[in-house]
Amino acid sequence: MPGNAVTRGVRGVELRNRIVVPPMHQYSAIKGFPTDWHLMNAGKFAAGGAGLVVVESTKVERRGCGTVGDLGIWDDAFVEPLSRLAKFIKQQNSVAGIQLGHSGRKARATRPWEGDRPLQRSPDIEDWDAWSPVAPSAIAHSEKWPVPKALERHEVKDLVQAWGHAARRAHEAGFDVLELHGAHGYLVHQFLSERSNQRSDEYGGSEANRMRFITEITEAVRTHWPDHKPLFVRLSVEDNAGWGPEQSARLAKTLKAKGVDVIDCSSGGITEMAPILGKEIKYSYQVPLSEYVKRHADIMTMAVGLIIHGDQAEQILRDKQADLIAVGREILNNPNWPMDAALKLGVDGPFRNVPPQFGYWLGTRAKRGFGTQPSTWQNGLQEAGKAIP
Ligand SMILES: Cc1cc2nc3c(=O)[nH]c(=O)nc-3n(C[C@H](O)[C@H](O)[C@H](O)COP(=O)(O)O)c2cc1C
Repeated sequence: MPGNAVTRGVRGVELRNRIVVPPMHQYSAIKGFPTDWHLMNAGKFAAGGAGLVVVESTKVERRGCGTVGDLGIWDDAFVEPLSRLAKFIKQQNSVAGIQLGHSGRKARATRPWEGDRPLQRSPDIEDWDAWSPVAPSAIAHSEKWPVPKALERHEVKDLVQAWGHAARRAHEAGFDVLELHGAHGYLVHQFLSERSNQRSDEYGGSEANRMRFITEITEAVRTHWPDHKPLFVRLSVEDNAGWGPEQSARLAKTLKAKGVDVIDCSSGGITEMAPILGKEIKYSYQVPLSEYVKRHADIMTMAVGLIIHGDQAEQILRDKQADLIAVGREILNNPNWPMDAALKLGVDGPFRNVPPQFGYWLGTRAKRGFGTQPSTWQNGLQEAGKAIP
C-alpha cells in the first residue's frame, strides 16, 4: 500500500502509511466553531485508513475567514471543540493534522457552490466591518473583488504573532502535525507575489523581503509548536504569475532552516484560475513541482493533485518524487481509499488498517471468497462470478 516499503517517521511522529487527506474546507463552521459535520468528516477519513488527516484551513484571525463557514482558531475558546476532532482522528490510529490559514484579500466571500464571489453586506453578519479584507497592498484580487485594506507595518507584526498563538492552540487541542497555508493566492501567497505585494517596507520589494512574512510566521510558530511535532508549509510552487519552482525551492531552503519539515506542493490561486483546475488537467499534474522542490531544496515533500489510483501513488513514492501522497477529491469519492488501494496493490491484510467495527467483517467475508474486490471494480454478479446464495 502506498508508502509501506519505506520508513514513515517525521520528527517524533510515525504514520501508518504515506497517505494523507489534505486540508479540504467544509464551509460548515458556525461562527468559527466546528460542528458534528467536521467530526463526521475527519472521522470517516481517519477510519478509512489514511496515515494523516489534515483538518481544513482554520483561520488565525477573524479578518482571515474566507466565508461564513470557515473554522477559526483565533481564540482559546476554539481549543476544546477542535480537540474533539484531533482526539477522534487519533483514536482511529491516524495522525491528526490541522492547516492554519488567512484568506487576506480573498476574505468575505460566498461559498464555492454559492458562486465564490464577494459577499453582500447583510444584517445576519453582525461583525461585517471587523471582517474587512486585508492584504499586503491595496490591490484587488480581480475587478470583481473589493480593494483590500493594506496592512500597517505593526499589523503585520501582530499577525505574525497571531499565527504563533494559533499554533499553540493547535498543540493544546492535541494536533500532532501543523500545516501553514502559504498557497492558493491567500494572505501568505499575497506577500510572496509581486503582483499583490507592492509594499515599500521590509515586507515588500526584494524576494527576501517578500519571503519575510512566512519566515517570521515560521519562527513564531516554532516557538509555540513543540520540537517533536512536524511542521508543513503548503506553497503554490508555480503560480503562473511570476512565482515558480526556483523561488519556491529557495524559500523551502530558508524555511527548512527555521524548522519546516515538509513542503506540500500545490499551485495557482493568485490569478482567477482556481488552484484545483491547474493549467494542465492530467493525472499527477503537480507531481513535477514536488519533485523539483525535493531535489533542489533537499526537503521532504508532499505531492497532491489528481492522484487517484493506488498504483499511481505507489509509483510516485518509488520514483522518489515525493515523500507523502495527498489524495483529496478521490477520498471524498471513496473515504476507504487506503483500504481500496491496499486491495488493488495486493497488500497482505488489506483490512487491517480500518477499524474492526467494519474491517473484521470485511476480512471474514473475504476469507470466504466474497467481496475481495470493491464492487465498483466489477459489473455485478456476472463479472464477480458468484451466484446469490
Ligand atoms: C472541497 C475542497 C476544499 C478544499 N479546501 C482546501 C483548504 O482548506 N486548504 C488547502 O490548502 N486546499 C484546499 N483544497 C485543495 C485540496 O487540498 C487539494 O490540494 C486539491 O483538491 C487537489 O487535490 P485532488 O486532485 O486530490 O483533489 C480544497 C479542495 C477541495 C475539493
